Amino acid sequence: MDPIDIITTKRDGGELSPEQIDWIIGAYANGDDTTPRVADEQMAALAMAILWRGMTRAELSGWTAAMLRSGKRLDFTGLERPTVDKHSTGGVGDAITVALTPTVVACGAAVPQLSGRGLGHTGGTLDKLESVPGWRSDLSPTEMRRVLEDVGGVVCAPGPELAPADRRLYALRDATATVDSLPLIASSVMSKKLAEGTGALVLDVKVGSGAFMPDTGSARELAQTMVDLGADHGVPTRALLTAMDTPLGYRVGNALEVAEAVEVLAGGGPADMVELTVTLGREMLAAAGMDGPAARDPAAALADGSAMDTWRRMVRAQGGDPMAPLPEARETTRILVPESGELTRLDARAVGEAARRLGAGRSTKEDSVSPGAGITLHAKPGDDVRAGSPLATLHADDPARFGPASEALAGAYEVGGKRRTFPLVVGKLG
Ligand code: URA
Repeated sequence: MDPIDIITTKRDGGELSPEQIDWIIGAYANGDDTTPRVADEQMAALAMAILWRGMTRAELSGWTAAMLRSGKRLDFTGLERPTVDKHSTGGVGDAITVALTPTVVACGAAVPQLSGRGLGHTGGTLDKLESVPGWRSDLSPTEMRRVLEDVGGVVCAPGPELAPADRRLYALRDATATVDSLPLIASSVMSKKLAEGTGALVLDVKVGSGAFMPDTGSARELAQTMVDLGADHGVPTRALLTAMDTPLGYRVGNALEVAEAVEVLAGGGPADMVELTVTLGREMLAAAGMDGPAARDPAAALADGSAMDTWRRMVRAQGGDPMAPLPEARETTRILVPESGELTRLDARAVGEAARRLGAGRSTKEDSVSPGAGITLHAKPGDDVRAGSPLATLHADDPARFGPASEALAGAYEVGGKRRTFPLVVGKLG
């Protein structure tokens, strides 16, 4: 097979054959000096052609199955507890996994989670958790199983044997403006989630300016596509559509978000994060068949300290110190509110982009992230603000980053405009 023929077929609007899909994914993920190798630039060209041309249902199904087959599929059927996981399609300030996983584990389910890194303007769970001193994301499948058996929850990077096609393609898409493609997002999420061996899955599909799917129609289509792919592979999958017009919580950036999620685990934290943690937790327990009369409720696990105890055990099991101070950026500066009134808009995508420019995310796939960089918001839409009061504090190691970040935030907020309210949970499927 010739990669150039495959790229040309998609570029010109044709349908890829199952053989072409199997070949290109296999060669890209596993090619070496002795077997066919597909270069990054060829896969980037194909990803751009897919972004423009889309994929048929048959192509998407074959592409996802080929991504899954590029590595191993874990099997946790022997475990005592039912397994269930949740995956977010990516948002700003979305550290829900950090609070949710220990909460659901404290309610009796097991959560095996393969997570990703920051993508575009959105954060990634692995980057966030790596801000906890000592915490390791690179577990082998054997270590993953041991942590799951001992503690009940594990969050780690897909190792070389799990979803290798997604690992390479995810980083490539981030650096080539090919993230916002429905088939590429659906196959990326579902190949990882199917590989991790979860028994049931809840998807948090984000909608709004800070999401990869800005409108409800396309988010619903993405959600339905992923629910169907889960069913195709025997994993009961349901999805919530949740608002991402403004960041979740008040902090955006790796260590900043972990600190806020730990506040949720301590029984406090911002109302939107608590609501989403409890809502997704209930969905996960229901998906795992653990919603009977004797079931534990996520809100109770947050209130009675059992979710916090589980968090500490999970962190220790992966080499981290849950009591160690989280890293802080060396420099801060503040953005002030220009006029008094009600804050009516604070755009999630602009805040995510500003956080990326501060060092919380990457510009090239080789970049490392700065764990303490990011933004603390002092107001959210609906709050009354006074002229000259702080709207946001920017955190960075290098003050040269403040200018580009402030530029990203210019025009991202409005005082006294038309108030728009978005319910947190916009829809439900599956
Ligand atoms: N999350 C993923 O795992 N993959 C994507 O492509 C987007 C969000």
